[in-house]
Amino acid sequence: MSLTREQMLAEMGITPIWRLREAASDLPATEAPVAVSEPPVAAVPVIAAPPAASVAVDTLYWPELTARVAACKACPLCEQRKQAVLGVGDLDPDWLFVGEGPGAEEDVKGEPFVGQAGKLLDNMLAALDLARSNKVYIGNAVKCRPPGNRTPEATEMAACRPYLERQIALLRPKVIVLLGKAAVHAVLHDDKSLASLRGKRFEYQGIPVVVTYHPAYLLRNLPEKAKAWEDLLFARRCLREAAAAGSQLPL
Ligand code: URA
Repeated sequence: MSLTREQMLAEMGITPIWRLREAASDLPATEAPVAVSEPPVAAVPVIAAPPAASVAVDTLYWPELTARVAACKACPLCEQRKQAVLGVGDLDPDWLFVGEGPGAEEDVKGEPFVGQAGKLLDNMLAALDLARSNKVYIGNAVKCRPPGNRTPEATEMAACRPYLERQIALLRPKVIVLLGKAAVHAVLHDDKSLASLRGKRFEYQGIPVVVTYHPAYLLRNLPEKAKAWEDLLFARRCLREAAAAGSQLPL
């Protein structure tokens, strides 16, 4: 992936690039500098600043996004979490899988899908010749564990949605697979039954989106695994079509 200068700095943890309007000594210590996207010109002081909570989530790169989520107090789920769980995987993925929210094990380990449902997800990935670190990113509708592993409330998903939206904008996967109803609600804002949404190609910001069952549901309903496999094959076809269409675009 070729990165812009700003993206490279972000990967190194030294963005946003801040350029002071005036010499630093002319400003009160509390005055916010202006974030700019173009490279700083010579002789203009460049400082790395922690992202203030007032900086919009949709402008954050990975280091700031990670820090913002880790410190998030936007909904009551923060009160009982051990840690927020942003996501895991390749930052230049073909596939993005979105689950519901961290469970007890994820809350401890800080990584999504590390419990029984995660083992099944890993097996599903392996069946597609994929792995969570290779062309795959795994995230969740909410980043903090709902107490007792209950389904996240609509207000909690709404509070967390900007993070997921920013992740998708940064990742630009070639296909998004929504695992279960919470993920469908978070990305497609749709509350219809999964059965009625499976097998259809949706779009989010021009990216194909496919709906399937959550692995935890599949563990309780083993015969449905065949349907999930069909959904993954459908997602792979959508990905290949998107990739083929993309490669035909003029450079
Ligand atoms: N279930 C989810 O939806 N996400 C996880 O990270 C783990 C279990």
